[in-house]
Amino acid sequence: MPSCVLAYSGGLDTSVILGWLMDEGYDVHCVYVDLGQPTEDREAILEKARRLGAASARVVDVREELCRDFAFPVLQWDAKYEGVYLLGTAIARPLVSKACLQVAREVGADAFAHGATGKGNDQCRFQLAAEALDPAVRIIAPWRLERFREKFPGRAEMIEYCRAKNIPVNVSKDKPYSIDQNCLHVSYESGKLEDPARDGFALVDFGMSVAPQKAPDKPENARIEFEAGVPVGVNGKRLNAYGIVSLLNEIGGRNGVGQIDVIENRLMGMKSRGIYEAPGMTVLYAAHRALEQLTLDRDLMHLRDRLSPEVAEMVYYGYWYHAKMDALMAFIRRAQRPVSGEVSLNLYKGNVSVAGRTSPNSLYDEGIATMEGGGSYNQTDAEGFIRIQGLPGRVQARVRPREW
Ligand code: ARG
Repeated sequence: MPSCVLAYSGGLDTSVILGWLMDEGYDVHCVYVDLGQPTEDREAILEKARRLGAASARVVDVREELCRDFAFPVLQWDAKYEGVYLLGTAIARPLVSKACLQVAREVGADAFAHGATGKGNDQCRFQLAAEALDPAVRIIAPWRLERFREKFPGRAEMIEYCRAKNIPVNVSKDKPYSIDQNCLHVSYESGKLEDPARDGFALVDFGMSVAPQKAPDKPENARIEFEAGVPVGVNGKRLNAYGIVSLLNEIGGRNGVGQIDVIENRLMGMKSRGIYEAPGMTVLYAAHRALEQLTLDRDLMHLRDRLSPEVAEMVYYGYWYHAKMDALMAFIRRAQRPVSGEVSLNLYKGNVSVAGRTSPNSLYDEGIATMEGGGSYNQTDAEGFIRIQGLPGRVQARVRPREW
């Protein structure tokens, strides 16, 4: 009997896919990858998979790994896709692939099935990551198979299939858009959100954060501690990576921080409209940059800033397990060494402002300046510096004078 692992969420799509794979003759090993999805009942989900006839069903808890080894390096890079999206879904996908392949190796399955559609980025990320880890893996993406789509042209047929197979469906929970969530963020897209003229913030029922206008009328302070560009504590308490993200989700969330409305370019070429909320990561990005301003060398920071759209693009497209990414990760680990210290932020109705920063590695230090005897900067030097900087401009002004 052929066997496969299935990235299983317990929702309508992956439940139908589980049934269909069994109809196709597969032994199906369901893997619920725990990414810190806030509202899902893990035991009920496993129970459902087993009742449906899965060969096995398990939870793989990767919450700490997701924050520590995936999201935090992306944070160190200050990577944002197309300037705004903090990559909350994109960065989780390679880890889902890895967790599923580890189970496949354990149970001896040779295929990896997932419920991503043929239109989106997630299919690319799952597959690019899986094939980079195990080049022999076979990917089963039922939504890309015509006979699957013919059998399930819409949700009505899927619900009907579940009824016939006694698969419990929770249609009442159905929202007028599609959600992907983990401890880093929640994304909302499709359905009613497809019309970019409609106000997405009014349409979405946010899960992690309140609307800025409903947030408290007083700023809330949060202090974040970093070591070598990695967050290590909040408000004087040392926490692990997942603990930091969770706590900042609460603090940021109750102050309405981190909600955005985006039209983004998918790897498959089309534009898509999404609403995201990422309260904790938004706070961390702000704190991290504030500390870099104090501690990072100018040219190094500028180089990192020129490269970071490249990292964002690679994460977004799904090239996580990739030679270029390995090298970029080595770069950022080295570059971030001095980024240690504490940042104090005020959160107020969706805004984040810096209320202070300290670091033992500060390059902005009046003390150092005076220690160097007040002689390290001589205003007389500035004259020659600017004359030399201005040389090409003066030559051109003589040869090709500008109108002014
Ligand atoms: N557009 C975002 C991205 O590509 C979010 C995707 C959400 N995925 C989903 N299956 N709803 O990263």
